[in-house]
Amino acid sequence: MSKGTFYITTPIYYPSSNLHIGHAYTTVAADAIARFKKMTGYKTRFLTGSDEHGQKIERAAKAGGKTPQEFVDEVVAGIKHLWGKLEVDYDDFIRTTEERHKSVVAAVFQRLYDQGDIYKASYEGWYCTPCEAFWAESRLEDGNCPDCGRPVELLQEESYFFRMSKYAQRLLQHIEEHPEFIQPTARRNEMVSFIKSGLEDLCVSRTTFNWGIPVPFNSKHVVYVWVDALTNYISALGYGTEDDSLFRKYWPADVHLMGKDIVRFHSIIWPMLLMALGLELPRQVVGHGWILLESGKMSKSRGNVVDPLTLVDKYGVDSIRYYLLREMPFGSDGSYSEDALVERINKDLANDLGNLVSRSIAMAEKYFKGQLQSPAAPEVPDQELIDLAEQTSAIVEELMDRSDISGALAAIWRLIGRANKYVDETAPWALAKDPAKNERLATVMYNLAESLRFITVMVSPFMPNLPDKVWSQLGLAGRPELHTWSSLSWGRLPAGTVVKRGPALFPRIDTAGKK
Ligand code: ME8
Repeated sequence: MSKGTFYITTPIYYPSSNLHIGHAYTTVAADAIARFKKMTGYKTRFLTGSDEHGQKIERAAKAGGKTPQEFVDEVVAGIKHLWGKLEVDYDDFIRTTEERHKSVVAAVFQRLYDQGDIYKASYEGWYCTPCEAFWAESRLEDGNCPDCGRPVELLQEESYFFRMSKYAQRLLQHIEEHPEFIQPTARRNEMVSFIKSGLEDLCVSRTTFNWGIPVPFNSKHVVYVWVDALTNYISALGYGTEDDSLFRKYWPADVHLMGKDIVRFHSIIWPMLLMALGLELPRQVVGHGWILLESGKMSKSRGNVVDPLTLVDKYGVDSIRYYLLREMPFGSDGSYSEDALVERINKDLANDLGNLVSRSIAMAEKYFKGQLQSPAAPEVPDQELIDLAEQTSAIVEELMDRSDISGALAAIWRLIGRANKYVDETAPWALAKDPAKNERLATVMYNLAESLRFITVMVSPFMPNLPDKVWSQLGLAGRPELHTWSSLSWGRLPAGTVVKRGPALFPRIDTAGKK
């Protein structure tokens, strides 16, 4: 039973150097949303990729003594390896150097030129190469890029321009009529004031370097890298090609997910290009905050970049995914430190979740040889646990629809906390001393196991390796129909199921020897 389609994208990353945990955060977040949507009945498509053209890549390749293509091929292989290690289950990975992408960009450019939305003039202004962004002098801050604070370069080139000014009013109206379009609200407000402060036509071609898609009617020019890059969201669906079935099925995108640094490109330039092409606008542009380090912003030049591969090898993929997704509050910046990571693993994963699983199963083994019995009528703490379990799945759905991943995890952890409290309240070890309380004890064991089933289903979009380990301990490995979101109604766990203790899910990390 499908609820319809759901198309989610990440930014396509610059393969100018290896990616760090900031990039990993966006991609893992999109993966969790995509997995969640799949589980809840949507035909989901999840796109990621690499943004391989432009001056920044050309310069990085040169510095590395390679051709741009050799250079990006290597970095992109590393990016794909990283996504594999992080269990990122994308449906498509688009590279802007692929023919399927280049031909669509050329056709889009040609069409905008033919219909008069692109014209030739001469450009004189400022350019920030790290951001690949043009700036009018009036927007500079202390003569530097207002986005990243780095120096800008003066450009004087004959260029093609896109008539942004023509679409500004329509875009403002769209943003006003669709409050959900730019999220969170703080980002929307920033964009509205940016547009209101006046938009100049956008320079959309460059002539001083070659590493780009040639302008189809003037090969002295290459297409501006952001126009090239943004088009990936439709070129990957085969827009404008003979087989555009994916485009017809999935466009408009439901969520373009990204960091707040590039919301401007996605909520101003991209919608205007789509308007000029007569296409529908994406339903939502979500700009999450930055992951900051204690020493400030991560950057290669500061030498403080955190490598996600090292972290995965050291702590395991589920732990890293959990930490990133839980630690970044929706809409604001989050901070990274290895101490905080270890604390989350020890507290949330080892103590709260890991212990709940191990002690519940150990007790069922001890008191009933692992076999679950039908529960008796619920008493007060049972009913509270059941109600919270059922409410939690609805709460998670609502939060995930708002891309509030950290909120969704917090809700699941409230249920884990409630289940741990239920163990303390019902005190199975005391019930076990009185044979007359055997039925009560069996009910408690059943309710704990059913809570674990709910929790495991709900954490699976976030921690994809965990569920199989829990299913085998819960005796449900061969029961996929009980692993689905739609199976989340209380009592589906069959009596007679035999649970069996396995290895600790999240061994505690010893911090005693630390400074
Ligand atoms: O901007 N915290 O690529 P990019 C959180 N190619 N997220 C972070 C982060 C941090 N510290 N650092 C990076 C580009 N990110 C363009 C995109 S899309 C058509 C073209 C994430 O490699 C965040 O999602 O510089 C940010 O938007 C993205 O990486 C920028 O990646």
